Amino acid sequence: MKYTVVIPAAGYGKRMKTKQSKQFLLLRRKPLIVWTLECFMADPNCEELIVVINRDHEQDMKQLLAQYELQSRVRLVHGGKERQHSVALGLKAVHSEATMVLVHDGARPFVTHAMISELTAKASKVGGAVPAVPLKDTVKRVTGDVIQETLDRSQLWAIQTPQAFLKPVIEEAHRYAEEAGFLGTDEASLVEKIGKSVSIVAGSYRNIKITTPEDLVLAEAFIEGEEQ
Ligand code: CTP
Ligand code: MG
Repeated sequence: MKYTVVIPAAGYGKRMKTKQSKQFLLLRRKPLIVWTLECFMADPNCEELIVVINRDHEQDMKQLLAQYELQSRVRLVHGGKERQHSVALGLKAVHSEATMVLVHDGARPFVTHAMISELTAKASKVGGAVPAVPLKDTVKRVTGDVIQETLDRSQLWAIQTPQAFLKPVIEEAHRYAEEAGFLGTDEASLVEKIGKSVSIVAGSYRNIKITTPEDLVLAEAFIEGEEQ
């Protein structure tokens, strides 16, 4: 199924604690954001990539797109203060005729075409679909440093991107969030707020978001494993 992907990539990657924003850090000699973009460029179902960038990174991003020949289906849009603002600005740039929209973190380089197909198929039926994996750790609610309760892990899932939605659903959700002043950490949370269904499909423990320095080590190991 054909789709447009909005890729928020306008953050500074503060938790990575590197001078350079994490999008540009090299994984096996290739910048992180290039790994992510190449996955969608290689998918014939991906009609357009709306990449949301920081003004401070504009020249560097343009240079990378040229160097890796990624310009053909990529459109650059300037982002906002929080991830949600960046996605909202990206959504405004989606072609009016698009029916299916995916939102995918620029910092998640290991998305697969199989996962994308499953997500778009499910979202076309339900309205929205996101990848999820079971939590590995025990999860507790804590106040200060005192444990209040242990949550029932069988009902808890870690949610990833890409998150796939029918275009009217994600547009309505973002419109509502903006009016209500609601800030969520993913798109599904905004769709939940308008009372519409979002289903989960099988995510992957490899589909990590590169967030802290340890994630870079893990990512390099994943790539090395695939090269063998
Ligand atoms: N993002 C964005 N606009 C923002 C903030 C984040 O487009 N104002 C993007 C990031 O570039 C990233 C994705 O949203 O691709 C997921 O966010 P996160 O992993 O939190 O990245 P950063 O916000 O850059 O990192 P940090 O929170 O550590 O500063
Ligand atoms: Mg962030």
